Amino acid sequence: MPLVTSKEMMEKAYAGGYAIGAFNVNNMEIVQGITEAAKELNSPIILQVSAGARKYANHTYLMKLVEAALEETELPIALHLDHGDTFELCKSCIDGGFTSVMIDGSHHSFEDNIKLTRQVVEYAHARGVVVEGELGRLAGVEDDVNVSEEDATYTRPEEVEEFVEKTGVDSLAIAIGTSHGAFKFKPGQKPQLRFDILEEISRRVPGFPIVLHGASSVVPEYVKMINENGGAMDDAIGIPEDMLRKAAGMAVCKINIDSDLRLAMTGTIRQYFTQYPAHFDPRQYLGPGRASVKQVVAHKIKHVLGSEGKA
Ligand code: G3H
Ligand code: 13P
Ligand code: ZN
Repeated sequence: MPLVTSKEMMEKAYAGGYAIGAFNVNNMEIVQGITEAAKELNSPIILQVSAGARKYANHTYLMKLVEAALEETELPIALHLDHGDTFELCKSCIDGGFTSVMIDGSHHSFEDNIKLTRQVVEYAHARGVVVEGELGRLAGVEDDVNVSEEDATYTRPEEVEEFVEKTGVDSLAIAIGTSHGAFKFKPGQKPQLRFDILEEISRRVPGFPIVLHGASSVVPEYVKMINENGGAMDDAIGIPEDMLRKAAGMAVCKINIDSDLRLAMTGTIRQYFTQYPAHFDPRQYLGPGRASVKQVVAHKIKHVLGSEGKA
């Protein structure tokens, strides 16, 4: 089966009250862990690549890994550019075979965000590729850019209709309190999402697919594993799973998860080296690392996203 766009996936997810998991990929073990879980649970999936991942692993290697996953799983898989920040980067991914791109103009003014997003949509749609835009700013770290809490802003529902109409985007990432990375709330702070904003947005653009970035739960089991094996992540806090399930039952059709995969892999490998300090064959620790990615993705599909059996 060739790569698909996420359009049909998201339409079905909206109607069915579930969400598609969009997982970040950087190497073979991560691609395998994600897609093996999706295959076993017959779930559609979005594999996403950041600019940093593309720099690290190289476009062609990533394309070939994803092609191999398509052949092995025969699942509907979309390949998406995560946080594209320029027209040129989006164009390069579209020309290079991606079926979906994000143009993240959230750091520009509303007018400039519309202009840039429209430019990407025109190029993408003419080539059968779908586009995700962003309104509002999440706190946290992406590609070495650190958005402080003061600079983060919730999405303004009153801007959404105009943005969607003028840009022609296929989905929209919004800011309702999630954030990138493993430290989403301060110690002692009660995790909260602005479901009122999400509700207001879905009232204004009924049926339109919404995307949640920064949606890792920071799985406690793996944070513990990191801390017990020489790491220092005591204050790591994520988004509670029940909040993500609630969002998936509303207008949220795509949920982005990266940090949870990183934590699982790192915790597992740290534990491995505590147990076997003299081992040095990468297969011996990357294998369990891959298995932990698979376990996390299977858990998300079954208990957070609700996409099991929907492929
Ligand atoms: O939102 C950011 C993703 O977690 C990708 O992170 O830019 O470090 O690859 P990265
Ligand atoms: P997390 O850091 O919460 O996994 O978010 C990932 C993300 O939003 C990728 O775009
Ligand atoms: Zn993101």
